[in-house]
Amino acid sequence: MPSTRRTPGAGPSAANDRRTTDEHRRALSSTEQDRPGRISERAGGRVVTPVIAATREELAAARAGTEGALALVPTMGALHEGHRSLIREARRRADAVAVSIFVNPLQFGPNEDFDRYPRTFEADLEACAAEGADIVFAPSREVMYPGEPEVTVKSGPMGERVEGAARPGHFDGMLTVVLKLLNLVRPDVAVFGQKDAQQLAMIRRMVADLNVPVEIVGAPTVREQDGLALSSRNRYLSEDDRRTALALSRALYAGVDAADEGPDAVVAAAATVLDKAAAADPPLELDYLVLVDPSTFLQVTTGYTGPAVLAVAGRVGTTHLIDNLPLQLVTPKER
Ligand code: PAF
Repeated sequence: MPSTRRTPGAGPSAANDRRTTDEHRRALSSTEQDRPGRISERAGGRVVTPVIAATREELAAARAGTEGALALVPTMGALHEGHRSLIREARRRADAVAVSIFVNPLQFGPNEDFDRYPRTFEADLEACAAEGADIVFAPSREVMYPGEPEVTVKSGPMGERVEGAARPGHFDGMLTVVLKLLNLVRPDVAVFGQKDAQQLAMIRRMVADLNVPVEIVGAPTVREQDGLALSSRNRYLSEDDRRTALALSRALYAGVDAADEGPDAVVAAAATVLDKAAAADPPLELDYLVLVDPSTFLQVTTGYTGPAVLAVAGRVGTTHLIDNLPLQLVTPKER
């Protein structure tokens, strides 16, 4: 693990995670009355109250209580409609659904937003219950990383491209926790959002390369009506920030509209929108705009045809935002 990543047991954020564990405990006891049978009547509707597991033992017991295929939706909490759509997709794919909530220190760099990452455990539980999740696995840092991990997942060349170049070590930390979650929960299916397209590609690659026995499902990005992709970090945006942030999705749609004219035209159309946003107040500070092969995240060249992903990332103020859209590039005579 590169030394620039957060160590799991150190720093001011360790105190944050202890508080989070206490919150888990409080939430656990406040929902205790709903637990027998785990089904209660609320507002006239049937609501399944998830079993909350904070430790490996509690998770094993909760898992033993499920029947049939199990789906996992790994999250870092601060659940929004995008996460809820992942839980619904998981329910369509399996008999029981587990949602994990864990803000993983290993995937944050020293200057990133680990300490201020939103933690909204009570609201997350409500969302999981409303979507019919059976298990919420909400471990503390001590449960996930009882000591400094010595053996971790190395994300390889793809992990150093695009988002990985902007956030060194991020994909190593992300893959490490995803593999741990897959090993702990042992789901048949795991559902991830396509909004983090490179994350999804990296997880697919890890599962294939390491023969992890799980089916990986990608679910479509959920957007606001004006096109802004839902993200837990959107809550950091002021009204002015949000107006600037809209340039990300507008740029992607402009690029996709130019798909018939080939890769260079796609990037040029998107860049025109982003250039304007760079001069806005507040400005968009662009990290990257790339047109890549979705399975390798290598940039495609002028003559490329086939599936591609147009991906963008930038900062508005201190908020790091990413977005992408899939597209199909065709040969000139098909245009
Ligand atoms: O996408 C996320 O929220 C995280 O990267 C994940 C997959 C839960 C791993 O921490």
